[in-house]
Amino acid sequence: MAELNPRLAVYPGTFDPLTMGHVSLIKRGLCVFDEVIFAVANSTSKNTLFSIDERLELARKAFASEPRIIVEAFDGLLIDYVNNRGAGSILRGLRAVSDFEYEFQMALMNRKLNRDIQTVFLITDFKWMYLSSTIIKDVARNGGDIRGMVPGCVVRRLFEKFGISPTWK
Ligand code: COA
Repeated sequence: MAELNPRLAVYPGTFDPLTMGHVSLIKRGLCVFDEVIFAVANSTSKNTLFSIDERLELARKAFASEPRIIVEAFDGLLIDYVNNRGAGSILRGLRAVSDFEYEFQMALMNRKLNRDIQTVFLITDFKWMYLSSTIIKDVARNGGDIRGMVPGCVVRRLFEKFGISPTWK
């Protein structure tokens, strides 16, 4: 069995694209852990707008000034990846009561698969409770102002992707 580092956590997600909610959560994770791996899921059931390489590139740009955040892709079972990376915890955010059931199920399944890895939840900052990657894409697709809700590099890439000029320019 791999040696697990209790000061290292994995923050997994599809991050299609990453939002300020994710940025805020991982930064708060750094108050608890020495290092956090921002782990971007490669194989996901979601039909992503951004490729895995694009999602990694955006995250690397957004976290360029934070050496304690490591951006990586992962494939397959999350718990196997966390174990192979030697991380002691999975970091997850809770936005509302509606997140709880899914998170509860996932945390229990991951615990069943590996009892040495803990899932740690942080409550999402109230400023970002309403955000999701889907809602950001929907607003951007229709030219809405998403500045401040996603990192600057994501604002630019979303508009490039949709090939539209924002109405708020
Ligand atoms: N702020 C803003 N938005 C947030 C957020 C926060 N703090 N936390 C989550 N969200 C949003 C996400 O952007 C996402 O939006 P979307 O549905 O519009 O894309 C939504 O909330 C759900 O996020 P999440 O629950 O993290 O789902 P995900 O698809 O990003 O990640 C995986 C899920 C990849 C972690 C999970 O499917 C997994 O582990 N897969 C690997 C296979 C595996 O091991 N499966 C068994 C698990 S027991």
